[in-house]
Amino acid sequence: MLILGIETACDDTAAAVVEDGDAILSNEVWTQDYIHRRFGGVVPELAARRQAEVLNTVISEALRIAGTTFEHLDAVAVNCRHGLLRSIMVGVSAAKALAYCLSVPLIGIHHIEGHIYSNVLAHRNVEFPHICLTVAGGHTLIIHVLGPGQYRILGKTLDDSAGEVLDKVARYLGLGFPGGRAIDQLASQGDASAFNFPRPLLQQATLDFSFSGIKESARREIESHNSRGLRVDLNNFAASFQQAILDVLIAKALSAASMTGCSTITLAGGVSANTGLRKQLVERGSEQGCTVLFPPLSLCGDNGAMVACLAYFKLKAGHRSPLDIDALASAPLEQEVWRRA
Ligand code: KG4
Ligand code: ZN
Repeated sequence: MLILGIETACDDTAAAVVEDGDAILSNEVWTQDYIHRRFGGVVPELAARRQAEVLNTVISEALRIAGTTFEHLDAVAVNCRHGLLRSIMVGVSAAKALAYCLSVPLIGIHHIEGHIYSNVLAHRNVEFPHICLTVAGGHTLIIHVLGPGQYRILGKTLDDSAGEVLDKVARYLGLGFPGGRAIDQLASQGDASAFNFPRPLLQQATLDFSFSGIKESARREIESHNSRGLRVDLNNFAASFQQAILDVLIAKALSAASMTGCSTITLAGGVSANTGLRKQLVERGSEQGCTVLFPPLSLCGDNGAMVACLAYFKLKAGHRSPLDIDALASAPLEQEVWRRA
């Protein structure tokens, strides 16, 4: 069964063809970093415009690389919940038109559920229930994945997401946008104990996060260096700042696993590409008897393959989305019922 997955949540235009839920025949992701870099963050209007400009080409490329054509598709899947509304609308409109013209089922998916399924796609038989720590520019969540279509949010950020804070502090340091990867690279050469950053909510029982305090503390430290005409040691600063974020993420994910009795933790979302996070979560997870899984780099950020994989399982469970499905900027994941047509 061939499914075309379309993902236009924010500033990545992505389309993929996946066969039978696990064979990735193509996975095209066109980024817009070069457009938003000069503004230091994603400009929603520009993001949506560029989505509209390139989506047809991205879909054509996904089909060409997969060695297939529209006529061979069995379903069209799209993220219709969670992201920048006008960006999502571009993908949803295209998916509706294709499903209608090709007379194949339309499968709408929730963006976060797509990220959860990036690990199902990468590892095939991920155990349920498990804990998914999903960390990106748009969200930071700890999810109890009870089974397909059954989710309980155990923790979320009360302010900024971890990816947002990495990007903002990277900008203060003049590292460009998005800066998570640059921080990751610098951190690998630095001393994480060189600077002292807070670990908000670390000692408290809650599984919620708060990252804005770490960001403010980083901003003040940079300003204090600048005002004294001193240069920040980038490697040490990045290592210390990143470690403050990782300590909280890892501690809360491990607490969630022990509170729920889960022995599998999955990592998903753009920040799951972080080398330190992957390594330390595996190490600390194994001390607690937990298996930690993460996707390959090609499936960490927004991509169409995770959309097509999730759609395969929804389709097999009898789910179909109506052609008048809405595009929503946010929707509760817990209500993501796999409805039958
Ligand atoms: O999932 P994603 O592509 O888009 C959202 O849904 O937000 O995630 C993008 C985020 C950005 O904040 C980016 O800086 C971060 O993922 N990121 C990283 C790394 N690669 C991307 N953060 C830390 N380390 C990385 N290697
Ligand atoms: Zn995402």
